Order: sequence, then C-alpha cells, then structure tokens
Amino acid sequence: MTKKILVTCALPYANGSIHLGHMLEHIQGDIWVRYQRMKGNDIHFVCADDTHGTPVMLKAAQMNITPEEMIAEVNKEHLRDFTDFEISFDNYYTTHSPENEFFSTSFYKKLKEKGHIKTRTISQLYDPEKNMFLPDRFVKGACPKCKSPDQYGDNCEVCGATYSPSELIDPYSTISGAKPEMKDTEHYFFDLPAFEGTLKEWISSGAVPEEMANKLKEWFESGLKQWDISRDAPYFGFRIPDTDNKYFYVWLDAPVGYLGSFKNLCDRRGDINFDEYIAKNSSCQMYHFIGKDILYFHSLFWPAMLHGTDHRMPTRLFVHGYVTVNGAKMSKSKGTFIKASTYLKHFTPEALRYYYAAKMNGRTDDLDLNLEDFVARVNSDIVNKLVNLASRTAVFITRSFEGKLADKLTEDSLFSRFVSLAPTVDECYEKCDYGRAIREIMALADEANRYVDANAPWVLAKDPAQKEKLHEICTNSLNMFRILATYLKPVLPTLAAEVEKLLNTELTLESIAKPLTGCVISEFKPLFRRIDMKSVQAMISDSKEDLVKAGAKPAGGENQNKSAKSKKSDDDSVIAPQITIDDFAKVDLRVARIVKAELVEGAEKLLSLELDIGLEHRHVFAGIRSAYKPEDLIGRLTVMVANLAPRKMKFGVSEGMVCAAGPGGKDIFLLSPDSGAAPGMRIR
Ligand code: MSP
Ligand code: ZN
Repeated sequence: MTKKILVTCALPYANGSIHLGHMLEHIQGDIWVRYQRMKGNDIHFVCADDTHGTPVMLKAAQMNITPEEMIAEVNKEHLRDFTDFEISFDNYYTTHSPENEFFSTSFYKKLKEKGHIKTRTISQLYDPEKNMFLPDRFVKGACPKCKSPDQYGDNCEVCGATYSPSELIDPYSTISGAKPEMKDTEHYFFDLPAFEGTLKEWISSGAVPEEMANKLKEWFESGLKQWDISRDAPYFGFRIPDTDNKYFYVWLDAPVGYLGSFKNLCDRRGDINFDEYIAKNSSCQMYHFIGKDILYFHSLFWPAMLHGTDHRMPTRLFVHGYVTVNGAKMSKSKGTFIKASTYLKHFTPEALRYYYAAKMNGRTDDLDLNLEDFVARVNSDIVNKLVNLASRTAVFITRSFEGKLADKLTEDSLFSRFVSLAPTVDECYEKCDYGRAIREIMALADEANRYVDANAPWVLAKDPAQKEKLHEICTNSLNMFRILATYLKPVLPTLAAEVEKLLNTELTLESIAKPLTGCVISEFKPLFRRIDMKSVQAMISDSKEDLVKAGAKPAGGENQNKSAKSKKSDDDSVIAPQITIDDFAKVDLRVARIVKAELVEGAEKLLSLELDIGLEHRHVFAGIRSAYKPEDLIGRLTVMVANLAPRKMKFGVSEGMVCAAGPGGKDIFLLSPDSGAAPGMRIR
C-alpha cells in the first residue's frame, strides 16, 4: 500500500552558511526520501530557514541591512547549496512566512485556551544602552571559578565551569560593552510538565531511538520545566497576540515552521490534503531528521505542542551525531570548518554523499570525515569497483556488437544473488543503515569484478571464435552493474542518471529482477571522476580563506541546551572510572617529534610545542616546563593523543595532548630520542 509521508530536516539558522556538518543531516534525509520515492510512496520532503531570534537581528544590524533583507539573501544561498548537493526538497521555505505566523499564533491561542500558557515575572540581565534584554550568549565577563576573562554567560571555555550569567565577574554586554543590569519582566511559559504522561507514552511507542532513552530518562528524572516561550522587544520574530512588546521565542515558531513550509507546498500544488497529514488520528506518517543537539526540542516541546493543539505527534525522529573532520571538531583555524559551497568548488556532491552514506549506520555516533580516507574510499569503491565494471565491458558491446546486448543471461545463479540482495537493501535504507547497504553492495561489486577478471573479455575480444562468449560475459556483467547502480540510486542520483543513459533504461526497484537483454546501449563515457589529495589541500586552504573574509566568528544560535559542558576534574588521587577496551580504542596515540618548543609568557607550567606527527604539524600546550628546557626538547620524540578535540586555552588553541608520566617536578618522562619510532606511527 502506498504510504503518505511527510519528512523534514531541521531548519538551518539563517545567520550562517551551510557547512559539511549540516550536509550530513540533509544527505541522510535525502537518501531516505529518494528511496521511499523509488518504492512508490507518496512522500513530501520539506525544510526552511530558521530566521528568527536575536542573533539574526544583530547580524543584520551589523551588516546595516534589515533582517528581512538578510534572510532573503541567505535563503537563496542555502537553497542553492542544497540543490547543488542534490537534496531533493519538495519545498524549501522560510519561517518568516504568513503560513508560519498563522500556525504559530493559532497554536499559541489554542494552548492558551486550554490553560497551557502561564505567565511569570522573571529577572534577566538587561543592556541599559541598547535597551534590550540579553540572551546568555551576549553577556561576557570573567569566569567566577577560574577568573579567565571574556567568558560567555553560561559556561567557561577555559575551565569548563557552568554558571548563570549573573555570577560573571565584571560582566559586560557584547553588543554595547555596557554593564548589564538585572531587570524584571513578565514572560510567557508553556506548561510542559502537564504533558509528561503523554510524552512518555509517545516515546515508548518507538518514536525516539532506543539509544536516546537514557538522555530522556535523565530529563524526566530531573523534572520537566515550564518552557519560556516569550522574548521582549526588540526581537526579530512574530508578535504574541494581545501584547505589544512580546515575541515568540524562536524555538516556538521553528518547529511550527515545518508545517508552514508543508502548507505552502500544499497550496502551491493543490493536490495534497494538508489536514489529513496533521490530524489527530492521521494515518499518514511524519518523520523529522535532526541532530542529537536538538533532541530536547523535538522529543519534548514539539510533540507536546502538537498534542496540546489536538494534532498528531511525529511518527518517529531520526537522530544523528556530529560530523568531525580528521578526528576533531570542525575547526575554522585548521580549515576544516568547510562550507558546502567551498567543498563544491573542489569535489562533486556525490563523492561526499557516498562517503557519508558509507559511514552512516542510523545511530547517533559522531561521523568522522577523514579526508585521506574520503579520497581513498571514493576512488576505490566508486571508480575502481563500480564504474570499472561498466567501463571494462560496455566498450566491447559497442565495438563488437553494435551496442546490442545478448538476448539472454547465462549466469543465473550469480544474477539471482544480485537480485536477492533487495530485501536487505530495503531493510537498511528504511533504518538509515546505509553503511551496511553499501558494504553488501560493494561485496557484490567485488564478486562481479572477479567474474570479469576470471573471464577476461579483453582476451576473448582478440579471438573471433570466442565472440559469443564475449557477448555473454559483457551482458551478464552489465546486468550485475545495472542492479548495483539501482541499489545505489538514492545515494548517487547523478551517477544513476548517467547509467540510465548508458543502458537506455530507467533504474527502478521493479526492474531489478528483469534482465536487460537484446537492447541497444549507448557508448560508454566516463561516469565518475577520480578525486585526489591535492583538491583536499586546496579545499582546506580555501576554507581558511573563508575565515579571513568572514572576519569574526558567527553568533551561535540562542539555544537552551547546546552549551552544557562536563566539568573537568584535576583530582588524580583516585583512579578514574573504568573504561572499556572500546573506549580506549577511540584514543589515537601517535609518535610525535617535537620540532619547536617555547616558553609561554604568563604561564608558569606550560610550554608551547609544535609536534610533527608525519601527516601534519600540531600545536599543543604541555605542562612540562618544570622538567624541561625548551631547547632540550627539540628533536625529541613523545607520544601524543592525536584525536583529542582542540581546546581553546587562555594562551591559544591546543590541538592535542602530550603524554608523559612521572611524579612531576623534574621527573616527567617523554620518549627517549633514539627509540627508533617514526613520527606519525600509531601506537596500539
Ligand atoms: N535552527 C535550529 C533547528 C530548528 S528545527 C525546528 C538549529 N539550526 S542549526 O543550523 O544549528 O542546525 C541544523 C541541523 O544541523 C541540526 O539538526 C544540527 O544537529 C545539524 N548540525 C549542525 N552542525 C552539525 C555538525 N557539525 N554535524 C552534524 N550535524 C550538525 O539547530
Ligand atoms: Zn573558568
């Protein structure tokens, strides 16, 4: 039976560019949607820009344009990036739309009618020069714990402490520099705790991935809280009905924006019944693709808002982890904070689509974009395994048989094994376990290549007596190739389209089992370009340039749950909690040669080190000054943790950690200079 499905990706903030982190989500969602389309389901894929809030308002002011002008520009740019990455949205809209204003307002009115909106006076930091209340991100001061200057209002990047902005020492507004004051204001709250039972039931229906259960349990155990949904003017957003200076907090109208975009699509198309999709007992499905950082909003607020307004709740959330590049958080200074458009100057979208898909398992683990592995994997799988199958056989069909395939297949058992992978592929796509699908598909590609190697068509082609055999072998191989390309069509739509041109046939799920025989194919043309490390280097240096052009760091989203950081402890009198061998295996230890060592002004214990780890140079701070003079360290070997997320310290960014052992003082030991280990060598 055809299913009716609404699918969304999280709405990107309109104050920054689309980067390769966003692309993980959009590629994941797009592959899922394309597969559902191939299955013949009635599916609508919508998204939009998330345009409201303080950061957008301030950025536009900085640029000397109106927020409306800014979000219109950004919308064009975002849509272009997604289109270039072959993300097949049916609608890409904006939250700053009449549809969204209508739904946000009517959701609010309905919730109010039912007694789910409360008001309360709160005390908040206020910028007396700009006459506005300050979100946590816009207050800075010295950390109340470690006294490091210039820390944000909610957490300290130096010592990791979390606190409330009113605890900052010498706080100042990052907008005007003025000293903020505490000021009372009345806010509106959504009564989330009233939905605890409903939410628990919804969650246990399988709507949220099992592995998120612990997170949710934590939230329920610490008690659901009233959710502050109002912000005082000046604010860029929708005004709350019956007020003159209060606006909906951006996170209220953002998820409603899913519906705003869908409604806009329905109105344009005229043949989709909007209400049917969101009605309380809808038989349609609604899926949201999101990152784990915004789970709170999608597993609590949003379903509660839907339920409280007598709508259906989401069928299921697909939750993914974060993209890291070369084992570390995307970093602007290292050039690994890569914008979608920068990537596309150097590579085709399908190289990344393939690489991400190959590493996606439908779980919430982070996904590492290792750029060397990316190049190797794409070349070896797509070029050497897949495309090679066609290039080595199609030429003979063109040359010796006027482009016509043989009239029947002669490798029934091999062919039927290719066909019988379909249910596995189906299961994998449904669960977003694309990695497994690709492993299975590539295992078959290996088999097909062995078949070609064993039968060596290039040898057969030299012997007129073997002409019929040559015809069979090439027809069989091209049919195996056809099936593999069909399975990969959701991941590699452009490649699939090229294959369709080559084989003069549409690649569909229904046609998998129907051999392609007796028909004429087109002349083979290269289907995929090999990629190389030179382009990676060019992309990295372009990304560093983007940083120079952009100047400062972008304002982050004003977001309630993104900044909770764990506190670190310096207590080494007790053994730390046990870890498993798997935890340990995550640590990438490398032999490193110290190529530069310098004192750090103002830091008694630290040395600043430049380490050569073969593949690259890293800069780290190490607390070993008591034991070593900088000049004695140069040329020595040490062991470094190469995949530690870079940390911003008072004196700069540390891109890893040096391992040393000893009681301290003069006795801190590094590796000896003549251990014979080569920089970059991995220690296991
Ligand atoms: N505007 C909100 C979402 C509102 S949805 C009603 C938001 N925007 S965002 O631009 O910060 O993020 C959009 C999506 O991209 C989120 O699902 C987020 O998890 C994802 N990602 C942003 N950076 C990412 C990585 N580095 N890696 C993977 N996904 C990441 O949150
Ligand atoms: Zn601190």
